[in-house]
Amino acid sequence: MAGSPTLTVMVNAARKASRAIRRDFGEVENLQVSLKGPANFVTRTDRRVEEILAEDLKKARPGFALLMEESGITPGSDAEHRWVVDPIDGTTNFIHGIGHFAISIALERAGEIIAAVVYNPIADEMFTAERGRGAYLNDRRRLRVAARRALSEAVVACGIPHHDRGDHARFRAELTNVQATAAGLRRFGAASLDLCWVAAGRIDAYWERGLEAWDIAAGSLIVREAGGTIGDIDGEPDVLKTGNVLAGNEMLYARLKEQLAAAGA
Ligand code: IPD
Ligand code: CA
Ligand code: CA
Repeated sequence: MAGSPTLTVMVNAARKASRAIRRDFGEVENLQVSLKGPANFVTRTDRRVEEILAEDLKKARPGFALLMEESGITPGSDAEHRWVVDPIDGTTNFIHGIGHFAISIALERAGEIIAAVVYNPIADEMFTAERGRGAYLNDRRRLRVAARRALSEAVVACGIPHHDRGDHARFRAELTNVQATAAGLRRFGAASLDLCWVAAGRIDAYWERGLEAWDIAAGSLIVREAGGTIGDIDGEPDVLKTGNVLAGNEMLYARLKEQLAAAGA
């Protein structure tokens, strides 16, 4: 389905920036790697990709503000619109030569996500959505969340907190509860793609705590436009602010929410 001119800007920016990612992924062993914080690597590629995206997005929509993982906030003259960008979501996979990472670009208008692009350049999978217009894979396939209703049949993805972050005991309690009922558990390592895979019905649900807005902004719209439910694990109103995300179809969302709440009780 043809998207709006704004979505085309986002798709084109992601495609262009992906050339740098693909090239560097090919020589991942030669990359100079610096340590941003334990287990959170930033590569030259992250910065370069972010620059390419910023340049293209600014050129196309000069007034829009930017929130980007590497460079932070760039204010704009337009008070309503803001790009929310993660140049490479899944950097640890990237560094380790695992081809599961993505460029994530969301457009926010007055605090609401209205357009989204998540692109995995290695699989050449472009997930897109616009508010009220559905979610798509590579422009052709309309996405729909899986219909499974029983947790005992569901494959559930999660995020495991890194060694220096998050509440490990709480994660283990949550894992214990979900493991006791779900058909299978996965940890893929790129939050944006976890959400897109929920939207595509590849996995049935996903939860993770402690994420940032740029990890989930685009994916959240893609899940919603695929008929899924996404929200804060503990029922807080704005998951982009808390970063504690739960996504799935309506039924599994409700079941998992109960199980995760029981883990914290
Ligand atoms: C990370 C990925 C990962 C999640 C981490 C995020 P990054 O983003 O989304 O799946 O578990 O918490 O920080 O650092 O690769 O952009
Ligand atoms: Ca990220
Ligand atoms: Ca990143």
